[in-house]
Amino acid sequence: MWKGRFKEQTAELLQQYSESVSFDWRLWRHDIEGSIAHSAALEKAGLITPEERSRIVDGLREIGAEIEQGRFEFKRELEDIHMNIEAELTRRIGDPGAKLHTARSRNDQVALDLRLYLREESGELVGGLRDLQRALVELAERHAEVVIPGYTHLQRAQPVYFAHHLLAYVEMFARDAERLLDCRKRINVLPLGSGAIAGSTILLDRELVARLLDFPAVTQNSMDAVSDRDFAVELLSALALIAMHLSRLSEDVILWASSEFKFISISDAFTTGSSLMPQKKNPDVAELTRGKAGRVYGNLVSLLTTLKGLPMTYNRDMQEDKEPVFDSIDTVKAALAIFAAMLGGIRANSEACAQAVSDPNLLATDLADYLVNHAVPFRQAHEVIGKAVALCAERRCELPDLTLADYQALSPAFEADVFAVLTVEKSMAARQAVGAPSPQNVAAQLARWKGLLSS
Ligand code: ARG
Repeated sequence: MWKGRFKEQTAELLQQYSESVSFDWRLWRHDIEGSIAHSAALEKAGLITPEERSRIVDGLREIGAEIEQGRFEFKRELEDIHMNIEAELTRRIGDPGAKLHTARSRNDQVALDLRLYLREESGELVGGLRDLQRALVELAERHAEVVIPGYTHLQRAQPVYFAHHLLAYVEMFARDAERLLDCRKRINVLPLGSGAIAGSTILLDRELVARLLDFPAVTQNSMDAVSDRDFAVELLSALALIAMHLSRLSEDVILWASSEFKFISISDAFTTGSSLMPQKKNPDVAELTRGKAGRVYGNLVSLLTTLKGLPMTYNRDMQEDKEPVFDSIDTVKAALAIFAAMLGGIRANSEACAQAVSDPNLLATDLADYLVNHAVPFRQAHEVIGKAVALCAERRCELPDLTLADYQALSPAFEADVFAVLTVEKSMAARQAVGAPSPQNVAAQLARWKGLLSS
């Protein structure tokens, strides 16, 4: 493609070192789509005839069909997907093919292809998030009655509906989807027409290309357009957050499935055994997902680091943008899909959950609130209940085992109705603030999410 300037062939070692077609071939559809739109602008500018354009379009479509069927031979010596397609087109149709690259550089071409690709993938990722949210809501609905201890510091804190815990993740994944859709706005700008760095002396109708490729906007600075990969960094960062959320969900699943918790069982189809210990049933999906968060974070740091020292504008370093981006997209898509499938086979163990939530210490705060309702300042109430808990620990009993006299010795504000506070049902019913897990609130949230996710 640059033979005019050179007398010697590119060294075999350099070809191997610099080729990207082994991974950027996956941009083929976007490359072809972009070239078809570009050819419309060439025709409009009178640079190719309608006849030449239709030979270009047919040729590109033919190549596309062959790639799709796995019949196309990619050549490493042609470096990347852009040159592979263009060279083959020219081999097939001659001069019209050789006109295709007019007023275009691989610098604006690759920026375009990547944007088209990420625009499509961001949509698919949102779909994957929605499927996972639906699976969480479905799991929550199947166990609408189950109450578990909520934890802070991994210490039992207060009772919550299992559904409330799962809906916390639904909220996280909703923010993730919002982030992707927001990032998509910055992906969705047409860079083609920026040329290598300074546009071109040949004037093409960029608005036409934007319309054909469904871009609502075109880039406003040719130098920025060919050097900008912010949109890819943003996407990698959104993916890192999704991976973090998946990893935290994984951690809960792993804990819940342990013999120590026993809150859930995972179906055989989504667990593995041990080659040595016959009793084992391991939550590998969750462990792998927790592990993969590391590479998704790594991909973000990798691209940021690649870009940080680059002078304006395009530098070949930027070819290193693709593998981290592809890897994070593949990794997160796969994790979202397998998690949604695994959640379908999770069952809560209502007995173990009821056993765990029957721990009366979970209601210690409710007792402090009782005193507040009997005009005791909260700080004092907190101390009184702390003493009651210490007394129980000393006597090796639980809060409901103390007598009214015991309670009244700690505070005269206690009355006979104190024991009525000490039930999980009461505790849940009282948690009525917006966002708190009263039965009505949780039911309303389940209904809200079902509605939002059905459309
Ligand atoms: N394969 C290159 C990349 O992915 C395409 C752009 C090459 N541009 C250039 N001037 N060598 O970044």
